[in-house]
Amino acid sequence: MELVGQMDVAVITKVYPSRSHSGAAQGGVAAALGNVDGDSVEAHIYDTVKGADYLGDQDAIEILCNDAPRTIYEMEHLGCPFSRTEDHKINQRAFGGHSFLRACFSADRTGHALLHTLVEQTYKQGGKLKVYSEWHMNRLIVEDGVCRGVVAMDIKTGRLEVFRAKAVLFASGGYGQAFKITSNAAANTGDGIVAAYRAGIPLQDMEFVQFHPTGLYQHGILLTEGARGEGGYLINADGDRFMSTYAPSKMELGPRDIVSRSEQTEINEGRGAGPNKEYVLLDLRHLGKEKIMERLPQVYNLAKDFIGVDCIEDPVPIQPTAHYSMGGIPADNDCQVYLDDKGQQVTGFFVAGECSCISVHGANRLGTNSLLEALVFGRRAGKKMLDVTPGLKLADVNEERELEAAKKEIATLYAGDGSEDLSVIREELKEIMTYKVGVYRCADDMLQARSEIKGLRERFAKVQVKDPGTNFNLNLIDALELSNMLEYSELIVSGGLAREESRGAHFRTDFPTRDDQNWMHHTMAFRTEDGGHELRYKPVTVTRFQPEERKY
Ligand code: FUM
Repeated sequence: MELVGQMDVAVITKVYPSRSHSGAAQGGVAAALGNVDGDSVEAHIYDTVKGADYLGDQDAIEILCNDAPRTIYEMEHLGCPFSRTEDHKINQRAFGGHSFLRACFSADRTGHALLHTLVEQTYKQGGKLKVYSEWHMNRLIVEDGVCRGVVAMDIKTGRLEVFRAKAVLFASGGYGQAFKITSNAAANTGDGIVAAYRAGIPLQDMEFVQFHPTGLYQHGILLTEGARGEGGYLINADGDRFMSTYAPSKMELGPRDIVSRSEQTEINEGRGAGPNKEYVLLDLRHLGKEKIMERLPQVYNLAKDFIGVDCIEDPVPIQPTAHYSMGGIPADNDCQVYLDDKGQQVTGFFVAGECSCISVHGANRLGTNSLLEALVFGRRAGKKMLDVTPGLKLADVNEERELEAAKKEIATLYAGDGSEDLSVIREELKEIMTYKVGVYRCADDMLQARSEIKGLRERFAKVQVKDPGTNFNLNLIDALELSNMLEYSELIVSGGLAREESRGAHFRTDFPTRDDQNWMHHTMAFRTEDGGHELRYKPVTVTRFQPEERKY
């Protein structure tokens, strides 16, 4: 942290830093601390590889799990208020797909606690680190394989500015907003990944979108998996704990892809609850008031405030919710971004967290591994940037040309004939993605989705931003975001159509088994000159664990 003083660092952020979506991660951050009988880093690595349905790069997974205990103690020493055991150790709870109690937690506000700890440390740097809060990132500047900076817009004033930099790190989050039912914050519209893609960088494994099993019915808001970690049940309309059919040894603590599919099957086959049999139920009643209020206060409040259910008295209606983007910007284990499928890299461009695809989560992330990934790889990226930046020069940027390009993109959004409505297109996109590219997928649905999204893109050209203002022009921001959502949604569909197998979160009813012979490969989507795309593939890194049947 003291090293920041040697650098001139700007943090550009779409929302106020303590509002970042990491604050929404509730249930825990994984680490084999050595306090739980039988657990080990080795077991954490194996669980993660298996949970990822063997699509994760195992060298990266080893780094993630090996560095987890150190990371947790570093965060503790920086001031993160973890919940404690009676003998004052960091408390750990069960989580899906993990073989041991491994989730270190702060009640059900773990992401919030970690985020605030880091934000405090950031502000402790004082003037050495400048935060540009509420800026929209419009363009990434990459020329001749060198990242030269970004163009961003101050949302408060509408002013566009070029930020030149020797090194740029994106930690811009995921792309769940393309779905109707999602736990993602409104800001998660894939701005970072699309800016990289439009600058010529491929996107990896975009077809893998995780559905979290316990989204609050109709709202999609996350109710932490920690609720099941503390002993919560999932029941159908008949009161049956249906997970005994699908994951008899793990029950409710199976990995998310399997639990979400199980719920969807119960709903599809008519065993859902409610007047339209559209949801299943999270039953916490047997945990009792004291435990719920101590360990799961946020779950209590969310259910009460949003749908008026008191989870001490009644089971809570839930459904799968688009939660996490496994795909993103490809990078090596020090977070330096790849420019192609052969290993060529972009000088000075780094990524960490959900916008990256390193790939530690493969086809399905285990709960609590995302906060861990953000911490472990965020730190690695920072260290690597400190190493390499002194050897880099501040590359030339044609600022006028970059600003003109950003202005032209904005001008296009004002130039439509206004015969189409932005919010209608956005809602249609979300419906398509949820119902045709969701928990279950098949060629027919995805082909339809592809042609409908193409139609939406054509209609989007007729949308007109009507607000001429410069201060907090949310009409313009909505349009910029929708343009991003339409572009990356096509890649989710294309990658999903091409991948004729089922693996992790990508489940095809027409290809229901995993095909290791042909598909131990990462998908890489490249933008073509005409605004279309081309898919290429690169092999998964396997170090210790050969693919085997995934049973729970
Ligand atoms: O369920 C949860 O608390 C989510 C955590 C995660 O996605 O890692």
